Parts: sequence; structure tokens; C-alpha cells
Amino acid sequence: MNVDKGYVDAPIPEGVDLKEEIKRLKKEKHAVIMAHYYQREEIQEIADYIGDSLALAQLAAKVEEPVIILCGVHFMGETAKILCPEKTVIVPDLSAGCSLADSCPADDFKQFIKENPGHTVVSYVNTTAAVKALTDVVVTSSNAKQIVDSLPKDEKIIFGPDRNLGNYINSITGRSMKVWDGACHVHEQFSIEKIMKLKEENEDAKVLVHPECPKPIRLIADKIGSTQALLNYAIENESKKFIVCTESGILFQMQKQCPEKTFIPAPPEDGTCACNECNFMKMITLEKLYNSLKYLAPEIEVDEKLAKKAIKPVKRMLKISKDLGIIK
Ligand code: 13P
Ligand code: SF4
Repeated sequence: MNVDKGYVDAPIPEGVDLKEEIKRLKKEKHAVIMAHYYQREEIQEIADYIGDSLALAQLAAKVEEPVIILCGVHFMGETAKILCPEKTVIVPDLSAGCSLADSCPADDFKQFIKENPGHTVVSYVNTTAAVKALTDVVVTSSNAKQIVDSLPKDEKIIFGPDRNLGNYINSITGRSMKVWDGACHVHEQFSIEKIMKLKEENEDAKVLVHPECPKPIRLIADKIGSTQALLNYAIENESKKFIVCTESGILFQMQKQCPEKTFIPAPPEDGTCACNECNFMKMITLEKLYNSLKYLAPEIEVDEKLAKKAIKPVKRMLKISKDLGIIK
């Protein structure tokens, strides 16, 4: 079996019904399929669980199946493997990376921590296991504010790697955390001019913004929140129209759960494309998912020593989130 390209490079048998075969193989291999909200529609449709980063981490720690197929990006698989070292954790394409995680190399982050002694290190989940191993507590966009709020008021904090989320958390908590200068290429790409034009054309629309977006976009938001929080707002809010400033995969769930409402994807600055996709998230296809189940590969591996360090801040996040009632 060849996994040189990051995924199982094997032919798909002619005439095979991929969706049916995936369902059959899933049972045969005692596997569970989890997908992030930014996955392709057909992947979201076939998944057992769909969620944001926090939900996926929580589910990984809870599920009973010995095999987890994580349809998301590499750091999500790593987080699942850190939490369940005894399980087989597979991401159908290991090259599905993350520009935000890449913006924070562990050696440079270690130096940053060294230059700022006496600081508690808070890291976003979008980081490598090596960065998590340097971290005191992990957060996601669903719990970052509450976790930072739970730390003593006079505690000095380093926040990495997302500068937009870090600056946003500073602004709503009154903290002055030292923020690492990283960003996600998808959330940084939105065009404020094009969103303003959409707002003019759709005066009744509410603007939904992920906190990984830069300040000018956050300033025009009716709701700022994690992917799950934006979905909840769209469901609960009485408005009939929403301009959605995050990765466009979430529109599938929004539309599915609110068929009577209109969701307009916010456009990026470049080109003529109307929506903004994460090329890494979209690397997971039905074909790669099928082969990953068939061959139980490619597996996520995390160095044992690193995993032992990295699990502490991840578990701390899950515990605080549970204590605060953010997750059950
Ligand atoms: P959430 O899943 O926490 O909303 O984060 C979005 C994201 O960019 C995941 O890669
Ligand atoms: Fe990373 Fe951004 Fe893609 Fe999320 S959307 S996986 S933060 S590059």
C-alpha cells in the first residue's frame, strides 16, 4: 500500500457505490467517522459526528470505537491521538495541514516563551503536538474567553498562535496577553469592501463573524463566535438572512438546519470566487475516506514523550469546559 502522497494511493474498484461501501467498511472495521463543519458536504453527510474543534476533541475522548477516522486537518487527528493513544486515529490525507498551525513553529514558540518568563501559556487548539507540549492550557474559539476569564486577574499570559483571536480575547476580557503573530489564511482573506457592499444590498441581513477574522471584519459583526456558536445563532435568531464570514463549509449545516433562511458566504479579496474555502479541509474526499477505511491508513502517530506532555493542557481545557458547563 502506497501512502507516499499522504493518503492511500490505491485504485477505486469500478462501479463501487462509495457511500454504501464506506458505511459497510465502517461497521466491519469498528470505526467511527468524525467530520469538522468545514468538510465537503458529502463528507459531512456520511459522518457519524459533525462538530467544531472543541466538539471533535471532546468526542475523541469519549467514543468507544477502537478506530477514529477524523475528517479534518492534521492537528485535529493529532489531538484525538493525544487523547486516545491506544486507538487507531486516521486522517484520510495527512497532508491536510493548517496555515495557522504552520505559523507557529515549536522552536520559535519556545524562544518566545523563554523571552517572556513567568507567563502562563494559552494555546489555540490549531497547533502541533510540539506546541501543545509547551502549553499550560489549550483553548478553542468556543471556550477561549471563558478559559482566559478563569485565570487569576493578575496572571501574565502568552496567547498563541492566532493574533486575531488573541487580540479579540484581549478586547473582551480586558487582559493584555502577549499575542503570537500567527493567522489563518482563510479567515484573513475576507474583503471588507465586498462585505460592506453585500450589507448594503441586504439591509436585513445579520453579519456572522468567526474570531479568527481581523478587527475591521469583527467590527461590523452582529455576532462573533466559533463555528458552532455561529450555527446556533443562525438557528435561534429571528432574522431570515445572514452574511457568513467564516469557511463556507458551515453554510451546508446552516442551510440544512434552517431551510427557510438565506445564507450568503462572505467573499475573499482575491479573484471572482463568491466564497472562501479552506483548501486543506477540502483535501478530504470520499475516495480518500473509502481507501483509508479499507486499508486503515494513513495513521496519525505522535511521539509518546511529546503526547504525555501535550495531553495535560488538552485535558485541562476539557475539564475547565466541563466545570463551566460549556460542554457536558
Ligand atoms: P472552530 O472549529 O473552533 O470554530 O475553529 C475554526 C477553524 O478554523 C478550525 O480549523
Ligand atoms: Fe487552519 Fe484556517 Fe483551515 Fe481552520 S480554516 S484548518 S485555521 S487554515
